[in-house]
Amino acid sequence: MKAIILAAGKGTRLYPVTLTMPKPLLPVANKALIKYAIETLTNMGATEIGLVVHSLESPIRQALGDGLATVGVPLTYIEQTNPRGLAHAVKVAQPFLGDEPFLMYLGDNIFQDSMKTLTTRFRETGAGAAIALTEVPDPTRFGIAELEGDRIKRLVEKPKDPPSNLAIAGVYVFQPAIFDAIDHIKPSWRNELEITDAIQYLLDQGHSVIPYIVEGWWIDAGNADSIILANQLVLEQLPYSPGPQTDSRIQGDSAVSHRVILGENTQIINSVIRGPAIIGDNVTIRDSYIGPYTAIGDDVVIEGSEIEHSIVMCHCSIRNIPGRIDASLIAENAHVSRTKAKPVTNRLILAENSVVQL
Ligand code: G1P
Repeated sequence: MKAIILAAGKGTRLYPVTLTMPKPLLPVANKALIKYAIETLTNMGATEIGLVVHSLESPIRQALGDGLATVGVPLTYIEQTNPRGLAHAVKVAQPFLGDEPFLMYLGDNIFQDSMKTLTTRFRETGAGAAIALTEVPDPTRFGIAELEGDRIKRLVEKPKDPPSNLAIAGVYVFQPAIFDAIDHIKPSWRNELEITDAIQYLLDQGHSVIPYIVEGWWIDAGNADSIILANQLVLEQLPYSPGPQTDSRIQGDSAVSHRVILGENTQIINSVIRGPAIIGDNVTIRDSYIGPYTAIGDDVVIEGSEIEHSIVMCHCSIRNIPGRIDASLIAENAHVSRTKAKPVTNRLILAENSVVQL
């Protein structure tokens, strides 16, 4: 079965990080978000995936190429230069998808559930569509389903007065009838062609739409807090591995707990690492504390500092920071250090939309 991943959004809620790195490439436990999407889709039965990207020059294409060597499934890139909603993305992908049932996945979503049951139910019932639902505390922010027994009665996008707290999570299975439905809908108040409206049109035409309640957690990783939370939830799933007794990477007066993954050529010197945590290749950690739920990318140096519950991407350095760094998202090539010059001041060179809390 073919699948598409929608990855053309600008990720404005993650500026400045996403000014240079598209959101689907942001690392969660040192693996790009989009790789979780690809894994889930292949679990669900996808054999060929179209990535809907803002430009064919997208860094996503540079990172994943034709897919075979990088993720083991063929990837096709589909350009959506002028994104006008999720349903518009499906229309743009129609030539790739052809006249067969297909899967659709929102590129910044990440599920604990393998989602296999969604495709199984779709196949067994011959429904017009199958959608994933999950309970949320803030239903006005999502597409919301109203159920009648185990059937979907109505769907409404971002309702002011929500009929339930069951939100549409970002994975869908469709019959090709969805293309005709998209042709019949009008842009919403936010001037987007909403996939929720197209699915409602299927219901209006008498198609059945099958709900599946997602098991475990689901994150729509649209902002820094949700990326950091996804990182925590994925690291929480690391299987037990004992703290290393003798390991040439661990030197001096160091202690590395269970559930810590250390990369190649990495050195832990006079430092404490408490898992679950993942540390990439060519990393030096000296006189520091790395606490639970931290992911550190390749080629990073951390000296004289404490950090936990955070993401540090590749090629960063953190030196001699007083106080513990917590709940932080530090993008590639960022350098954080304590000044040695007098007077002791705070010196900041920040990109637009940076957030610093001292
Ligand atoms: C989109 C969909 C919405 C769904 C949500 C899940 O919303 O329109 O129905 O609940 O994704 O993340 P958006 O992220 O475009 O606001």
